[in-house]
Amino acid sequence: MALGSKTSSRGSIVAAAFIAVLLAAGGGMLWFVEHRPAAGLGSAVAIGGPFSLTDGDGKAVTDQTYRGKYLLVYFGYTYCPDVCPTTLTNVAAALDKLGPRADRLQPLFITVDPNRDTPAVVKQYAAAFSPRLIGLTGSPEQIKAVAHEYRVYYAVHRTGPGPNDYAMDHSSILYLMGPDGKFLSVVPADAGADTIAADLQRQLPSS
Ligand code: NI
Repeated sequence: MALGSKTSSRGSIVAAAFIAVLLAAGGGMLWFVEHRPAAGLGSAVAIGGPFSLTDGDGKAVTDQTYRGKYLLVYFGYTYCPDVCPTTLTNVAAALDKLGPRADRLQPLFITVDPNRDTPAVVKQYAAAFSPRLIGLTGSPEQIKAVAHEYRVYYAVHRTGPGPNDYAMDHSSILYLMGPDGKFLSVVPADAGADTIAADLQRQLPSS
């Protein structure tokens, strides 16, 4: 039917546009990562920075809370149907493969959906993947600020008329941060556990 084909073609255009935005964002990220050392870009484009959030017990935390540990930072949301659970499953398996070396690393899951992802929800969600993983949430303003620091894109994608009928479009990027809180590298978030483990193995000190 004409209506059906029109709707489906519009859906395809929207999907294609979204993919184009993701590619553009990903391309920009790669450009930045590749060019940062030589270009000597200033703090305006640095990845990471100070943040204030809330952990799974409702306790206030900041970037300072984790100083001295390497951080593996991932942004997502607990209602995510596919990418977040896949990535976090791979991260959890990679940490297991790393053995004691993983003790130097604190993986953080920061929600981009603070309305639904309360402290209790992120705590339970993170624990389901790994006891090592800490889930963090915050006020919408705090989440906006930390996502901005990490150059993470996220947006509400409505799926129906109800208040909870929405998904979140979001960047899927794993950031490795040093014990001083400074950005070290992007770890391939779409890779399997072996690749993630090998990447971390290369970058984390052995003792
Ligand atoms: Ni997701």
